[in-house]
Amino acid sequence: MARILTGIQSSGVPHLGNILGAILPAIQMSKDPANESFFFIADLHSLTTIKNADDRKHNINAVAAAWIAFGFDTNKNLLYRQSMIPEVCELTWYLNCLTPYPMLANAHSFKDKSEKLFDVNAGLFTYPVLMAADILLYQANRVPVGKDQIQHIEITRDIAQKFNTQYGPIFTLPEAETNNDVMIVPGIDGQKMSKSYQNFIDIFQTDKELLKTIKSIVTDSLPLEASKDPYTCNVFNIYKLIASPAETETMRQNYINGGYGYGHAKQELYEAIIRKFSSAREEYLFLMNNLGALHHILEKGEERARIYAQDTLRKVRERLGY
Ligand code: ADP
Ligand code: TRP
Repeated sequence: MARILTGIQSSGVPHLGNILGAILPAIQMSKDPANESFFFIADLHSLTTIKNADDRKHNINAVAAAWIAFGFDTNKNLLYRQSMIPEVCELTWYLNCLTPYPMLANAHSFKDKSEKLFDVNAGLFTYPVLMAADILLYQANRVPVGKDQIQHIEITRDIAQKFNTQYGPIFTLPEAETNNDVMIVPGIDGQKMSKSYQNFIDIFQTDKELLKTIKSIVTDSLPLEASKDPYTCNVFNIYKLIASPAETETMRQNYINGGYGYGHAKQELYEAIIRKFSSAREEYLFLMNNLGALHHILEKGEERARIYAQDTLRKVRERLGY
């Protein structure tokens, strides 16, 4: 049985790119009976950059609600808020004291952030150690991450090895898993869809807002009657990720034949999103309007996570002489 663990950034309401590129594939992987998935909302990591408490609360709820709405099975697997298992902070301290300073100072992600961000705090510096604690606390063996996070998994392995050598084997050494054929969902301006570019589609908006976003997708200005190239059009490129092959083929023909405008294509994209995501949107709205129900689901995951965390921490404390 593989224990798959990954942290999900709680930096905003998940957009269509996050859903198609990360949430749905991870949920698919979690359905394998040979796997047990520990997915958590990395809401302690988010404090390195996001300082506003109301934003944090909203983002945590939105991310959790989205995962549940898309069918992550919280009975088979664990979904929890990192901050609700504070044992992770205690383990972080122990690991901090085994982590060589240059290893953190040379981490690409830290160097990158410290060049770009105005607020270069100590949390950013020790970010990889908290991440190591996230993984080691739960003895995970597979950690799906984006390529930018591979170095953090290497740091985790180094720290775990150091601990195991010095104090006897406790920690499982995790393997990073990256998916090479991830789809890149384009945003409304054709660049990669991202929160940072403000070019995202939030499928959880009201129908009216969603239609407005879709109408703002950038296209060229060919007239309605002209034949159009579907593959250079942002509307078509998003539509094909959502519609069935037959629907995609129909739209492709419409573009080539002409007499079909971008307004028509946008309306079809809007309807396809509404159709495809109707139950997820409904469930998401229900959870966001019934936070008691949402938190009840999270608390069940947290109760189970705490058992693993306390078990590891008890062994660690013993070995360290506490
Ligand atoms: P953002 O770029 O909006 O800040 P994140 O970096 O928080 O998104 O990404 C969260 C997850 O969603 C990652 O697994 C990432 O690979 C995936 N993801 C983000 N944007 C896209 C996209 N446009 N297409 C496919 N996957 C994406
Ligand atoms: N740092 C990861 C990211 O930016 C999120 C994360 C936090 C994580 N803790 C983790 C991922 C533990 C995997 C395992 O995407």
